[in-house]
Amino acid sequence: MTKEQDTSKLWGGRFTEATDSFVQRFTASVAFDQRMARQDIQGSLAHAEMLQATGVLTEAELEEIRSGLAQVQREIDEGSFSWSTELEDVHMNIEARLTELIGSSGKKLHTGRSRNDQVATDIRLYLRAAIDHIAQELTRLQRGTIELAAVNADTIMPGFTHLQTAQPVSFGHHLLAWNEMLERDHGRLMDCRARLNQSPLGAAALAGTTYPIDRERTAAALGFDRPTENSLDSVSDRDFAIEFCSFAALLMTHLSRISEELVLWTSAQFGFIELPDRFCTGSSIMPQKKNPDVPELVRGKVGRVNGHLVALLTLMKSQPLAYNKDNQEDKEPLFDTVDTVLDSLRAFADMIPAIRPHKAHMRDAARRGFSTATDLADYLVGLGLPFRDAHEVVGKAVAHGIESGKDLAEMDLATLQGFCPAIGEDVFDVLTLEGSLAARDHFGGTAPAQVTAAAQRALARLQAR
Ligand code: ARG
Repeated sequence: MTKEQDTSKLWGGRFTEATDSFVQRFTASVAFDQRMARQDIQGSLAHAEMLQATGVLTEAELEEIRSGLAQVQREIDEGSFSWSTELEDVHMNIEARLTELIGSSGKKLHTGRSRNDQVATDIRLYLRAAIDHIAQELTRLQRGTIELAAVNADTIMPGFTHLQTAQPVSFGHHLLAWNEMLERDHGRLMDCRARLNQSPLGAAALAGTTYPIDRERTAAALGFDRPTENSLDSVSDRDFAIEFCSFAALLMTHLSRISEELVLWTSAQFGFIELPDRFCTGSSIMPQKKNPDVPELVRGKVGRVNGHLVALLTLMKSQPLAYNKDNQEDKEPLFDTVDTVLDSLRAFADMIPAIRPHKAHMRDAARRGFSTATDLADYLVGLGLPFRDAHEVVGKAVAHGIESGKDLAEMDLATLQGFCPAIGEDVFDVLTLEGSLAARDHFGGTAPAQVTAAAQRALARLQAR
């Protein structure tokens, strides 16, 4: 076998034959990690400026690196940058082009640095920016949800348990329940951001570096709160990506619950709401159809996000310290999670404020199914009956209602007194839907006044972000 030295590689020095072409393709990440080019350049600039400040690079060398990196960024922005699989990843593509542009100063950029701390820095910077964008979209969705709730504080719908009519609730109250889920998702997202916002730069390959580096300086230049504590940990763990994906899995789970309700509510059988045509599609065969594709698709996308979470957990499992090539596999699941979450939030933030409730249908549905039965029991307790006895009495009244096709509020006083003689005319106050809602007048309850106050508190929380 003839030995030929592979000189095209930045690490080619110790090699005596060229990389197998399949292995080259198999190990390359540039097809997907070029998405982090901006962050890679940002990190390189901070590193070079620090090296100049500590005397490793001259001012002239730093200037060349600066203008070279600016040129690289321009080429990438214009789409004229030529990405090469031979150069494996985004880091070596950019470094090689820089050296092509500015010569030997470009070769000094990698002093005191490794691709291991470089990539750990790039992903954190990328994910931090993605988190900020996601937080914006999440806030937009929450604002739309709360505003719709505020104008529907006294819109009455049936509340469900087991998807069976349970008690009447305010539509606004239901919407604010969605907002609470999203509020916790936002909290988890911010926790994740706070924990990832440390700079691994300076950890180098795994053990740190012999050059006089200033980790505080690069951390501050990149907007990190502080440098990471331990060099081995810095280059190896991807727990921040896992944490982000678990935030995403929960968020998508919540969006799937909301989606499910939207799909049900837009059906002819429920008829609670109307989604604008622009968020729906038709059928190629059934002319009458208007399908809620957007919520259905979001509901379906939970699958891939849950999958990415499991992929990252499995990727990290049993990895010995410090960096392993396994970690290159973190990017595609992470990027797809970011894309999926952003698209889903965007769709929802546009769609939710455009929901039109069919108030009459909702109200009608709330009247059916004996939704004020608990109110009647509570009324009887007010007359002195123990709750269990009251429960029994109302059960009998409901059985009669099922037989006679009458709701409790539709029975006359004499009929009701047949179940309990102490019942008075005032019973009809609690058997109305409005009376039922208004009676649940405490913090966290569905009385319209409480819902209005809750919507105000929710908006104030958004404003304080
Ligand atoms: N492309 C690699 C990754 O995504 C960059 C770090 C490679 N480091 C190494 N020593 N091979 O993880």
